[in-house]
Amino acid sequence: MRVTDLITQDHRRVREMFLELERMDAGDGERLLDRIVDELDVHARAEEDVFYPAARAVSRRIDDAEAGLAYLRNAIAAFRALDVECADFTLGVRLIKGIVLSHVLEEESGILMDAQRMGGDELERLGAAMQERKEALTRTQGKRAA
Ligand SMILES: [Fe+2]
Repeated sequence: MRVTDLITQDHRRVREMFLELERMDAGDGERLLDRIVDELDVHARAEEDVFYPAARAVSRRIDDAEAGLAYLRNAIAAFRALDVECADFTLGVRLIKGIVLSHVLEEESGILMDAQRMGGDELERLGAAMQERKEALTRTQGKRAA
């Protein structure tokens, strides 16, 4: 799979999880939110490790994208310090969702288009590398959670 398709697929999955989360009560949503955060963490790290270094050669938007991911991590850390029962939970979810949507927009309407210049073979190669990286990160996450 091309790295651009893999990234778009990740984005779609996270957006669907947010929609599901909005239909739940805060208490039930806590576990799903943890899954969303884990998913975002793997996605962001795999992009930083595999995709961004390669895409930097064809896109000038990578610094902004990296700053966006740093902002997302800060928001998640601040959110995790909150009590789930408190009213800020809904606001926190909205804030994180907003940051994620701007990340998605920045990539899908910018960086992923720039990345087309790398050509099909390179996009396929990066797709395989990013998938491998995601699997390795997910395994580490599983160990951490156990
Ligand atoms: Fe992304």
